Amino acid sequence: MGLSAVKRGTTLDDLYRGIRRTLQFQELLLRDSVRNKAFYQAIKRSVRKGSRVLDIGTGTGIWAVTAVKLGAGEVVAIERNKFLIPVINSFINENSVAGKIKVITGDSRRVKLSGKFDLIICETIGTQAFDENIVPIMSDAVKRFLRPGGIIIPRSISIFAAPARLRWKSGGLPSGIPFKSQFFNSLVDNTPFVISRKENIEILSVPQRLIKIDLKGAKMPLKTDNLSCQWQGVNCSKVNCVVTWVVAELTNKIKIDILRRTSWLPAAYTVSAPFKGRADLEFNISLCGVKTRWTSSFKKHGKVKSQSRTSLSPVILLSG
Ligand SMILES: C[S@@+](CC[C@H](N)C(=O)[O-])C[C@H]1O[C@@H](n2cnc3c(N)ncnc32)[C@H](O)[C@@H]1O
Repeated sequence: MGLSAVKRGTTLDDLYRGIRRTLQFQELLLRDSVRNKAFYQAIKRSVRKGSRVLDIGTGTGIWAVTAVKLGAGEVVAIERNKFLIPVINSFINENSVAGKIKVITGDSRRVKLSGKFDLIICETIGTQAFDENIVPIMSDAVKRFLRPGGIIIPRSISIFAAPARLRWKSGGLPSGIPFKSQFFNSLVDNTPFVISRKENIEILSVPQRLIKIDLKGAKMPLKTDNLSCQWQGVNCSKVNCVVTWVVAELTNKIKIDILRRTSWLPAAYTVSAPFKGRADLEFNISLCGVKTRWTSSFKKHGKVKSQSRTSLSPVILLSG
C-alpha cells in the first residue's frame, strides 16, 4: 500500500495504531474456529461449480478464497479498509486462486458492479448484532447484486435475551470498604457492558428472542425500539441483569449462537429485583443509535414494580 492511501494529517502513531487494531481484529476472527467452521460449511453447502460469488467485507479474503476452493467460478471481494488490501492479495496468492478473485477497495454501498451474483457472503455481524451495519449493507447488496433465487450468508440475525446472574457483579462499590459511592454505582448500573468471560454468566430462565431480521427482506430503517420479552418465576435473589446475545443463521441448519462459543460477546443490562422469592419479569429495550433505554418490570401477586435505565453510551467493554 502506498502512502497515498493514508489520510492527510495522519501521524505515524495513528497509522501504527490503526494497523495494529486492524490486524488484532482480523486475528481474533481467524482464531475463532467455531465461526470459521460454520462459515466454511455454509459456503460449502451454498456454492455450486462455476457460481458467481460476492464477498462483502472480505477482511483477510478468507471467504473469497474459500468460495473459489469450493468450486466458485468467479469471486468479487470488496473491502473498505485499505490497510487490508496487501493482506488479501497475499492470502489469494498463497492459495493460488489469483485468477478467480477480483478485489475492490471501497464501501460496498458505493461500488458499481455489472451482472448479478449466485451467492453473497457478508460477515459484518456486530457483537451487538447490527452495530457493523449488516442490515443496510445486505439490503443494498440483495437489491443491486443478487440474482433472483440467489443465496445470502447469513440469512438472518436474531438477538436473544435471558435473565441472568453475573457471578462477579454482586453488592455495591467499593467492595470491602464502608464509603458511600451512590453516584458511581448508579453510573455503573446505567451502563450496559460486554461480558468477556462467558463462564461467569448463569442463565436463570429460558432464552427468548427479542428480534429477528431476515436479511433478504429487511425493511429500512431498522426498527429496534420497544423490543420486549417476558419470563415467569424468575429467581429474584439471584437475578442481577438481563443478558442479550446474537444468533446468526448462516444457512439452513447452520447457526452461530454466540452465548456459549465464538469470539463474539454477549451484553448485559443491569436489573434489580424489588421482590423476594420468585416473580415474573418483563424486559423492554430500545436500541436507538448511541442511546440505549431498558425497563425491567417485576410482577408478583398482581403488584408491578418497574425501573427504567438510560445509557447515553452504546455497549462498552468491561471484563467480567
Ligand atoms: C467482521 S470483519 C469480517 C472479515 C472477514 N470477512 C471474515 O469473516 O473473517 C468485517 C470486514 O468488513 C469490512 N466492511 C464493513 N463494512 C463494509 C462495507 N460496507 N463495504 C466493504 N467493506 C466493509 C470491515 O472493514 C472489515 O474488514
